[in-house]
Amino acid sequence: MAQSSSKAFETLAAKRAEAQLGGGQARIDAQHAKKKLTARERLELFFDEGSFEELGALVTHRSTLFGLDKQQFLGDGVVTGYGTVNGRLTYAYAQDFTVLGGSLAEAHAEKICRVMDLAMDNGAPIVGLNDSGGARIQEGVVSLGGYADLFYRNTLASGVIPQLSLIMGPCAGGAVYSPALTDFIGMVEGNSYMFVTGPNVVKTVTHEEVTSEELGGASAHASKSGVTHFTYPNGVAAIEGFKTLLSYLPQNNMDGVPHLPYSAGGDERRPKLDTVVPESAQQPYSIHDVITEVVDVGSFYEVHKDFACNMVVGFARLAGRSIGIVANQPAYLAGVLDIQASTKAARFVRFCDAFNIPLLVLEDVPGFLPGTDQEWNGIIMHGAKLLYAFSEATVPRITVITRKAYGGAYDVMNSKHIGADLNFAWPSAEIAVMGAKGAAEIIFKNEISKAADPAAMWAQKEAEYAEAFANPYQAAARGYVDEVIFPHETRAKLIRAFRMLENKSVARPKRKHGNIPL
Ligand code: HXC
Repeated sequence: MAQSSSKAFETLAAKRAEAQLGGGQARIDAQHAKKKLTARERLELFFDEGSFEELGALVTHRSTLFGLDKQQFLGDGVVTGYGTVNGRLTYAYAQDFTVLGGSLAEAHAEKICRVMDLAMDNGAPIVGLNDSGGARIQEGVVSLGGYADLFYRNTLASGVIPQLSLIMGPCAGGAVYSPALTDFIGMVEGNSYMFVTGPNVVKTVTHEEVTSEELGGASAHASKSGVTHFTYPNGVAAIEGFKTLLSYLPQNNMDGVPHLPYSAGGDERRPKLDTVVPESAQQPYSIHDVITEVVDVGSFYEVHKDFACNMVVGFARLAGRSIGIVANQPAYLAGVLDIQASTKAARFVRFCDAFNIPLLVLEDVPGFLPGTDQEWNGIIMHGAKLLYAFSEATVPRITVITRKAYGGAYDVMNSKHIGADLNFAWPSAEIAVMGAKGAAEIIFKNEISKAADPAAMWAQKEAEYAEAFANPYQAAARGYVDEVIFPHETRAKLIRAFRMLENKSVARPKRKHGNIPL
């Protein structure tokens, strides 16, 4: 009896050791030679030390065609399981490129679906570490079915548990759509790419010559398409980055935001804020200088840093609690609202609202960007997305108008009219239909044209309009602005206001879902 059980133990130990090796040492070496970690090494870095529990390590494919009967690898090219990250339950899967190129087919997909289901049933985030040659060609249609099983689950989990995707190698063809359905994508610079069709197909169809990196590398998707929210210089930095990202997020949509210990009663005045906005309204300044002063030291984690830089979005902590920040960036295109800025901000607002993360808006916006490019590409529809996202959001919402709040952009940027809880304005705020120069030209067109000195008349009318509207007091008189505050008071006011809104609860009429202008 003892002998047979020891033989049984040996069998198990041997199987475990085999599973650990994935596609074998030679392929592990090849992976390392490409400056890539293996799936297991990645998971070891990702989870708190010793917390990872693997599931399905002995799963194999059931296919026999095209030589697969001779290529059985334990785990079938994906390592799945759960553990803790920053002490909190998290599920993950990591595709193992050493096994059939990390390609996805029936058993591989079933394993991912299993951890997705567990993540949903237990209300915890799921993180995918992607490194795969796509659909396993030898298994045919079951690979496509497997992808669709993932897409369906990604969609059902959307807004219920956070879903994060890290692209650490190839991700091509329809495979891109699972990450695209998740909340955030991160990519490793120089070592990952995403595209629907690769350079060869592009060349055949459009005659464009393009490399994989140019077509779908981290930098292309960070700055041109906006598909990726984060880029990292290497795999280790990427994994660390995602652990940081998770630290801001609740476990699920019924959970509150995480908060770190914070001792109240310190000096929350921030005198540097009093000099951030330049004397001249035409002069730019960086909204990062405002964010840095307002939030807890070093806590701003920017999302989409290189995309639509006229809008800044990201997570931060205020008195230890997570908030989402949406801010116009006067240092880039004067902070104008355009198509990319609108969609970037709208998606971020919806994520925060889905996961109970309060929103802080910092507003300095000259309006929407004019032009045929914007109109013909649908700024009306895309701008409406942001309007819609803010209007439907029921999380605590506060706006601080630092300078310009012009035109429709005033309404869109979380005004009280669309449901913001509080609007503060700095004394430098200008809240009007348009800038004084343009306004004077339109209203006083006749007088200016008939004046002996049109330029002088225009300047005079501009000054009159500016006197009337280039300030926060008309809006404050109507209660559109709750309080005009000194910039140095901002942090203290926000800490109190968000605390006051902590138990906010809003009931909306029952409906299947709204119809956001997609
Ligand atoms: C089966 C695959 C595979 C795949 C790679 N391998 N991709 N096996 N199905 N899709 C295997 C290789 O045969 C090889 O096996 C090992 O993985 C490593 O591949 P290499 O080519 O040696 O690696 P590398 O040079 O780094 O190139 C990686 C690659 C290339 C760029 C990903 O392998 C490649 O182009 N693969 C095919 C990609 C593809 O066309 N996929 C289908 C996309 S369509 P050995 O035994 O030598 O280690 C798709 C549709 C999904 O995904 C639709 C969902 C709706």
